[in-house]
Amino acid sequence: MTRIEDARQREFAFTHADFESLRTMVKEQCGITLSESKRELVYGRLSRRLRVLGLSAFADYRRLLAASEGQAEMIEFINAVTTNLTSYFREPHHFDFLRDDYLRARAADSRGSRRIRIWCSAASTGEEPYSIAMSVAEAIPDWQRWDIKILATDLDTNVLKTCVAGVYREERVRGMSQKRLDRFFDVSGSGADRQFRIKPELASMIAFRQLNLMHTLPMKGPLDVIFCRNVIIYFDKDTQRGLFSRIAPLQRPGDLLFLGHSESLLQVSDAWTLMGKTIYKRNAPC
Ligand SMILES: C[S@@+](CC[C@H](N)C(=O)[O-])C[C@H]1O[C@@H](n2cnc3c(N)ncnc32)[C@H](O)[C@@H]1O
Repeated sequence: MTRIEDARQREFAFTHADFESLRTMVKEQCGITLSESKRELVYGRLSRRLRVLGLSAFADYRRLLAASEGQAEMIEFINAVTTNLTSYFREPHHFDFLRDDYLRARAADSRGSRRIRIWCSAASTGEEPYSIAMSVAEAIPDWQRWDIKILATDLDTNVLKTCVAGVYREERVRGMSQKRLDRFFDVSGSGADRQFRIKPELASMIAFRQLNLMHTLPMKGPLDVIFCRNVIIYFDKDTQRGLFSRIAPLQRPGDLLFLGHSESLLQVSDAWTLMGKTIYKRNAPC
């Protein structure tokens, strides 16, 4: 970045030092590593905040975040920099495995435990935890007589509001079978305004909480299944190592961990063994 580029005409003054300081804050607050190529993304996403706040320069925005009265804005800042891309049954082989291989085996084991704890650790707008809940309901017909709880967490407080509301527009549920739509959603409105609301019975399986994966994990475990998908891709290796060293004690040998399609525990943790297709099984301690 040259001084000439720094001085280019923009709505808000945005210097090299602003970008460096903001990306340091993002790393500290969320663990997310932003490369140099994310400069315009940062400018674009945070410009909206400067507009709302009536500021004219990123230097003023940085000062606000650093001040004690800037703590409310810190939440908005974090919400603005997170990437929340998700969809129902994203990477469908994970849900096939969860339902057909893992949960059906649990259901068939008449002497096994009927307690299941699942953590969806980067829930975004809720499609992932609701897909998990649907998989449970499909695999275990009498699931309401079991002790099954899904904890769905995310750092971003905005996406958690969508999770709790559980209401989706038609394009978000497109591709889902009619059988699933009928079974798991209440439909209201018509035409372009049609809305699909998760049925309360399914929603009752899930508790939504805000949780920063950079912080101490408050849950005790053991967690039979953890979904940690498409979030560690934003963290550097050291941050990933720290995270999985805190997650490992929450699982027992044989418990499952699902990562995103481009994520891996290679050079990160040897507490799990890869079973294939980014599905990992917790190892017994050596
Ligand atoms: C790309 S979405 C992935 C959503 C879902 N897991 C999936 O695979 O479809 C990444 C999510 O991770 C969340 N996230 C990013 N950093 C986080 C952190 N430090 N702690 C918890 N969640 C975080 C973001 O808010 C975002 O909702």
